Amino acid sequence: MFDYSNLFSVPSGPAYFDSAASSLTAKPVLEAMAAYYGKNRANIHRGAHRYTHQASEQYEAVYGKLAKFFNASDQEFAAVRNATEAFNAVALGLDWNAGDEVIVSDVEHHSNFLPWLRLKEKGVKIKILVSDGDGTLSADALSGLLSKKTKLVSFTACSNVLGATVPVVELAKAAKDSGALVCVDAAQYVGHRPIDLKKWPVDFLAFSGHKVFGPTGIGALFHRHDSGLEPWFVGGGTVRDVTLDAYALLEHRERFEAGTPAIAEWIGLGAALDVISKVGYPAIEAHDRALVEKMHSVLSQANGVEVFGPKSVKDKSCALFSFAVENVSHHQAAVMLDELGFAVRSGHHCAIPLTRKLGVDGTVRASLHLYNDEKQVAAFGKALKTVAQLG
Ligand SMILES: Cc1ncc(COP(=O)(O)O)c(C=O)c1O
Repeated sequence: MFDYSNLFSVPSGPAYFDSAASSLTAKPVLEAMAAYYGKNRANIHRGAHRYTHQASEQYEAVYGKLAKFFNASDQEFAAVRNATEAFNAVALGLDWNAGDEVIVSDVEHHSNFLPWLRLKEKGVKIKILVSDGDGTLSADALSGLLSKKTKLVSFTACSNVLGATVPVVELAKAAKDSGALVCVDAAQYVGHRPIDLKKWPVDFLAFSGHKVFGPTGIGALFHRHDSGLEPWFVGGGTVRDVTLDAYALLEHRERFEAGTPAIAEWIGLGAALDVISKVGYPAIEAHDRALVEKMHSVLSQANGVEVFGPKSVKDKSCALFSFAVENVSHHQAAVMLDELGFAVRSGHHCAIPLTRKLGVDGTVRASLHLYNDEKQVAAFGKALKTVAQLG
């Protein structure tokens, strides 16, 4: 297994098994941000001096990186704070009528659930796409829910609780064929699997920088040019002209970014995408596969541990595992694992409807990435045994 850990800023304490909450930061990201702050710290698109020009060039270059990374146009991306802001932006930026329908799955993170639920206030009807036991979504089930009134279908490409592989293209095609817009939550997916937006027939796609080795406080929203999305905020940087009683917005992407953006973070996000491209998705997938196989074997040997989600490598799209330890609460297990050398997440993972469906009040979640290895997973198995003996 290749050792990628020197590419990252890795803490010296417990092994980091919480990448689904937030990944570690890649060193080139820190360097890119430090270079902006240290060498040409200035606002962008404002004024004529060299520092603003240099900063603007670095900022603009990130759109080109996104376009290449996802095979889309650089005009189809907007900077947002995170995936959560992106889903709210879509919910706020589309024109809704009473009677419109939105279909959303029952495995969603609250970020891709609450913005749609809130549309009920506008008379929009919410329909739930029910997942199978392992958290997979089916195009057949979706077809049974689609109607002429379906305005938008939103689903995750990878659940943050179960890590199950989702047939994104099949789901998106079914939705598009019935005339609906498609929104995909790629927050967990982008760090692990490639996306080609010429092959994915989706209108909106969102992810956060902090889950893909980048900084916090930045993310990107892809919005296809003909999606009908209007700016959710207006203000400085978005207008061509303003009179005392009207304004005319700029065309294309400028109209979507009101106010001074998170310049350093956006530049850092670009550096994070460069890191992923340099390592390459085939290498990331191979690394994930080895970790998934090892973790499945460790978990299947642990007595008193109930594992949720797919048990086969092919049905996982990232190295993410949720489980419950008999007679030990999820928080207690996480505290013990921290003491035994492993930083895992515990709780409902911002997916209360799914947690409730699993019949528990929370799970322990171990989520791994490039800086983890099989040796750590083997040691984790021993620590888990210690925790399970308490139960
Ligand atoms: C699947 C999924 N969607 C959305 C989000 C929300 O991401 P953020 O908190 O960066 O907005 C998360 C975060 O855990 C997630 O796992």
